Amino acid sequence: MDKSTIVCRCEEINIDEIENALKNGAQTFDDIKRLTRTGMGSCQSKVCLHPVREIIADYHNKDLQDVGISRMRIPLKPIRMGTLATESKDSNVASVFGESVEEGDENR
Ligand code: FES
Repeated sequence: MDKSTIVCRCEEINIDEIENALKNGAQTFDDIKRLTRTGMGSCQSKVCLHPVREIIADYHNKDLQDVGISRMRIPLKPIRMGTLATESKDSNVASVFGESVEEGDENR
């Protein structure tokens, strides 16, 4: 595959940049994320995680299943800042993270 092929569309990171990160010692997706910003875009690695894992597996001659996924951080889906800032009797972890912003609902 052409080294200029974009792997992470959000951050416009190509295969060559991923391989350079691997040559510089990256072992995991999170290492590559820190070095290149892969996975830090608006999709939060939903699109690029698996192609990058395949590149890591090929580079290190590992099975794909032996290459870990990215460390996930909450919130796992978009929520309104007002929801986080509001203190109410319903403000508990389950209610805060249970509420999400639906598509087209971001400006409410
Ligand atoms: S494609 Fe990589 S962060 Fe979206």
